[in-house]
Amino acid sequence: MASVHVRDLRKRFGKTEVLKGVSVEVPNGSFAVLVGPSGCGKSTLLRTLAGLEEADEGTIHFDDRDVTRLAPRDRDIAMVFQSYALYPHLTVRDNLAFGLRLRKTPEAEIAARVAEASETLGLGPLLERLPKALSGGQRQRVAMGRAIVRRPSLFLFDEPLSNLDAALRAQVRVDIRKLHDRLGATSVYVTHDQVEAMTLADVIFVLNKGVVEQAGAPLEVFDRPATKFVAAFLGSPAMNFVDVRIERAEGGFRAAGQRGLSVALDAATFGDSLEDGRAAVLGVRPHEVELGEGGVSLAVDLVEALGPESYAHGDLGGGAFVARLDASSPVKKGEALPIRLRTVHLFDKETGTSLRGAR
Ligand SMILES: Nc1ncnc2c1ncn2[C@@H]1O[C@H](COP(=O)(O)OP(=O)(O)OP(=O)(O)O)[C@@H](O)[C@H]1O
Ligand SMILES: [Mg+2]
Repeated sequence: MASVHVRDLRKRFGKTEVLKGVSVEVPNGSFAVLVGPSGCGKSTLLRTLAGLEEADEGTIHFDDRDVTRLAPRDRDIAMVFQSYALYPHLTVRDNLAFGLRLRKTPEAEIAARVAEASETLGLGPLLERLPKALSGGQRQRVAMGRAIVRRPSLFLFDEPLSNLDAALRAQVRVDIRKLHDRLGATSVYVTHDQVEAMTLADVIFVLNKGVVEQAGAPLEVFDRPATKFVAAFLGSPAMNFVDVRIERAEGGFRAAGQRGLSVALDAATFGDSLEDGRAAVLGVRPHEVELGEGGVSLAVDLVEALGPESYAHGDLGGGAFVARLDASSPVKKGEALPIRLRTVHLFDKETGTSLRGAR
């Protein structure tokens, strides 16, 4: 297995620059996830790693090997696409063997690898079937099998679960991660689904308009988003944002908003970025809210009861706000609900950069 080192990658299609200087480091054996909204350049980056697109600038190394200008077949990678791209006229067995035959692998070796992959993925009973006689989940496993028999030094996945229903997606997600661990593989996985990203990744790269906005361990990125974009993209329901002004207050600083909103700000967290009169955006995750007198009140206009928890929707400081509450919380529409904010984030009003520890 290989480590991946992408430095300052640039790629344009015609006049549009799609990758604007992307750098990505994936340690050997890691599961890396590229996540971001539609059109941000995820597939382009993955296809450039595979050699299906040529980089305009920048370099790609697998371990010490410079593969930037190598043809796909010389890169020692295997890719799993959203459309599984199985050969409809070949049985599962022959689909698995196809790539190896193309490379003139000896038949005995092919048989051994196909047997091993079908054992790993539970494909044994399906080997003589044609793809049209398989369910979506089974086709997905055949596509995985075709990647595994190659024994590549790098697995590349482009939204491999998008064609599955929600329940199967959750299951196959777990299977893919287990498989990665069992094979000791290095994987780069593209998705626009933030739950997939959070649950699968050792390291997550959040892309926005061809730029890596933030990279890190999933919980680190979730807990300390570097920008408002990252904060908004990760987490469901999404983080709440409220326009505020930073003001000097007794004993420190506070964030002041409309409708009498006033939240004390911790100097140790926000440091020098606390300036009297500065315009900022206050960020609060729905689950960082609890009932209690804390100088903040939520004007509730809708309550969604989901069973184990409830979401109270309403207005806080002049902005739409969602609070997650215990199902047992007695909360009603039309109420001014006194709440405490356990953790707050602050972002620069203009740039969206996090003000945590910034200067
Ligand atoms: N071959 C191409 N020619 C011209 N433009 C392209 C080409 N491939 C991609 N693009 C453009 O590059 C941008 C990024 O595309 P890309 O497929 O990498 O996005 P993505 O992040 O994978 O999105 P999605 O989540 O929708 O799959 C898009 O604006 C797309 O239209
Ligand atoms: Mg894509």
